[in-house]
Amino acid sequence: MPKLAILGGTPAKTKPFPVWPIYDDREREALNEVLESGVWWRTPGTKTLAFEQEFAAYHQAKHGIAVTNGTHALEVALAAMGIGSGDEVIAPNATFVATASAVLFAGALPVLVDVSADSYCIDPELAEAAITENTKAIIAVHMGGRPADLDQLRTVSDKHGILLLEDAAHAHGSEWRGRKVGSFGIGGAFSFQASKTMTAGEGGMIISNDDDFERLARSTHDCGRRPGEWFYDHFIYGSNYRLSEWQGAVLLAQLTRLDEQTSRRHQMGRMLDRLLSEIPGISPQSHDSRITRNGQYAYIFHYDKRAFSGVETLRFVEALEAEGIPTQAPYPPLHKLDLFTSGAYRDRLSGAQAAAQHDFLEDAFPNSEREAWETVWITQNALLGDEEDMGEIGAAILKIQKNARDLL
Ligand SMILES: Cc1ncc(COP(=O)(O)O)c(C=O)c1O
Repeated sequence: MPKLAILGGTPAKTKPFPVWPIYDDREREALNEVLESGVWWRTPGTKTLAFEQEFAAYHQAKHGIAVTNGTHALEVALAAMGIGSGDEVIAPNATFVATASAVLFAGALPVLVDVSADSYCIDPELAEAAITENTKAIIAVHMGGRPADLDQLRTVSDKHGILLLEDAAHAHGSEWRGRKVGSFGIGGAFSFQASKTMTAGEGGMIISNDDDFERLARSTHDCGRRPGEWFYDHFIYGSNYRLSEWQGAVLLAQLTRLDEQTSRRHQMGRMLDRLLSEIPGISPQSHDSRITRNGQYAYIFHYDKRAFSGVETLRFVEALEAEGIPTQAPYPPLHKLDLFTSGAYRDRLSGAQAAAQHDFLEDAFPNSEREAWETVWITQNALLGDEEDMGEIGAAILKIQKNARDLL
């Protein structure tokens, strides 16, 4: 029986996975063009403007506003939605902190609800149950690129007259019923941070089909200005969230590969679903026939240690890494972050809301805990590999399973 790589054996994976980020002369030439044009900033530039238009069009949205990062995309979107002190915004408890911290930045309370057991996306029924007279919006996160249940979330938001915002930081090119995610509600927020499936190191985008929201978001991201008006006229409160021309140029080049890369990751993801669901103790993140494409920011599966001689998740992940399979850490549940347990989040609230008891923080969030401590995330670059690579991922997991006792 081959020895586990973590114990000195030969790694199961020998052929390397594609390295992320992927770039070529398209990025080089675009950067050089910006360099030599002497126009390095957004306002008089052409690259970021073109990127906004192309990214929005690709996602079947009317408007795109490029911003400095995905966190800022959420902050600007919430400002344009009119979210402020006293408001509540329902958000999943299993996500990156930005989903909730952007709500706090607006001076509103993020009301955290659990995710569904196998999708790790916000549970629409729990979201509906958390609605109060102060609720202004729900934020859905498309976890790992897998769209949340947009049918049910739209039904809930329509029924209660609250806004739906998509945190699509993981979901470039993902589709729900054949339509790209990001504009099922009032808008969608994307990230182009280094690990994302399109990147300029940092960057973000807001897309929308709503003209009023777009006007407010565009103004907010540019110091309260209005396009076409005098540079020193400022009409509303805003800040400088503009994306530079360097990043716009790189992202335009990255966008030329997005469709093909998304298709490949989706295809390889479905192949892994088939391969890994045959391994006892491994349950892939649930797929849904309404998901016509999953951008697969990560490939997520549930790990049941009982099928691996009781080996803890972290130890399994170390062994998997040693076998040559790249992983990234899942998110800890937000309600357990110091930000919430210490009460520091209250510094962003005001009035009665700052003093009130926030009972949801005492809730049990079993599925967020499951996501945090029992899932394994394979990084997106692995899914840009081929069928042989997927087979080797399965083989590496089986190898660990067969030798699990050696890890105890
Ligand atoms: C779900 C989610 N939302 C928002 C963000 C924030 O994006 P950024 O890192 O570009 O600020 C991230 C980044 O990892 C994320 O994963």
